Amino acid sequence: MINTLQVQLGDRSYPIYMGAGNLDEAELLTRHIKSKQVLIVTNETIAPLYLKQITSHLQDYQLEVAVLPDGEQYKTMVTMETIFAALLNKQFSRNATIIALGGGVIGDISGFAAACYQRGIAFIQIPTTLLAQVDSSVGGKTGVNHALGKNMIGAFYQPQCVIIDIKVLETLDDRQLSAGLAEVIKYGLIRDANFFAWIEANIEKLLARDQDSLTYIIEQSCRNKAEIVASDEKESGIRAILNLGHTFGHAIETGMGYGNYLHGEAVAIGTCQAADLSRRLGWLNDSDVNRIVALFNKAGLPTQPPVDLSTKEFITLMAVDKKNVDGDIRLILLKKIGEASLPLSVERTVLVDTLNNYGRKK
Ligand code: NAD
Ligand code: GLY
Repeated sequence: MINTLQVQLGDRSYPIYMGAGNLDEAELLTRHIKSKQVLIVTNETIAPLYLKQITSHLQDYQLEVAVLPDGEQYKTMVTMETIFAALLNKQFSRNATIIALGGGVIGDISGFAAACYQRGIAFIQIPTTLLAQVDSSVGGKTGVNHALGKNMIGAFYQPQCVIIDIKVLETLDDRQLSAGLAEVIKYGLIRDANFFAWIEANIEKLLARDQDSLTYIIEQSCRNKAEIVASDEKESGIRAILNLGHTFGHAIETGMGYGNYLHGEAVAIGTCQAADLSRRLGWLNDSDVNRIVALFNKAGLPTQPPVDLSTKEFITLMAVDKKNVDGDIRLILLKKIGEASLPLSVERTVLVDTLNNYGRKK
């Protein structure tokens, strides 16, 4: 059964199709393609697994494929050149469509290329990781990394649709599944205490890839994300809460070298640091923080910051963040489990206390 959820954005509204076997549904895809010119962007890991399934639906199209190298370290302006070359070599015009077939890296880079090519062509998200299905494929944040900062170059650019097929998660390894769970837990923490408790109660089933449980978290996550994006597409307010743990997390990803910590792993650690800071402000108590750390641990995620990243390095890296204003570091924190704060700057001494103490050996 195909479950459809609409991201309500006026004339930029689009459907998220969720179900098992959606990659076999040719019409689901072709109804969103407006001309004969189609470029599929994927990577060398995903191509052997799912490319044929998609190309089989597009025999009547002028179809091109760009297979990118796999890894966060390739989410760069340089890699985008491959996409532009593929489009230009075949003289693709403004009514062409890009299909992003892959995880968050492929989705972010393809979406940004679509936003830039001839000032904007259509694109379709076919997310193949849990993380991409519950978060990155929805909401139109597209972009690439810079050596000095994660996701610092990009655009808000919405897809035509998002096609989620839960079956592709069968080939995803356990580490990547856990990384996706970090963003799922995030939705519970920022706005839905009952969902957080549900994840706590069902974490073993999720790790065992129980289909009903995975379907439930994908639907809940997409619903949460679609509601937030619909109310604040370009992050002038509430959308920022989706960045819980991300300022710490992005510092870890950049500081440790892109790809060494998965995005979801860095977010898990960063969320624990944000929880510790929230405790120092008197918003969470010890038992809340222990509950949060325990759930990430059970989900197979790291919860301690890397020993190699000093407090000073953290602060330098955290100073490069899109939520900052006039160089002031602003964080999303937790007022309680199920309620996030808007971005706020805290006393530097409190931030330093967290960085010096949370997860550090005495
Ligand atoms: P990823 O895209 O690197 O994919 C993880 C790994 O899984 C890769 O090696 C990939 O080749 C492999 N893979 C993908 N699908 C597979 C499948 N079905 N079977 C087997 N292997 C598969 O990582 P990710 O976790 O999907 O995404 C992380 C990226 O998403 C980061 O760059 C992050 O910044 C970005 N992100 C963006 C948003 C947004 O709103 N745009 C939100 C969250 C994260
Ligand atoms: N992943 C953060 C956002 O989409 O806003």
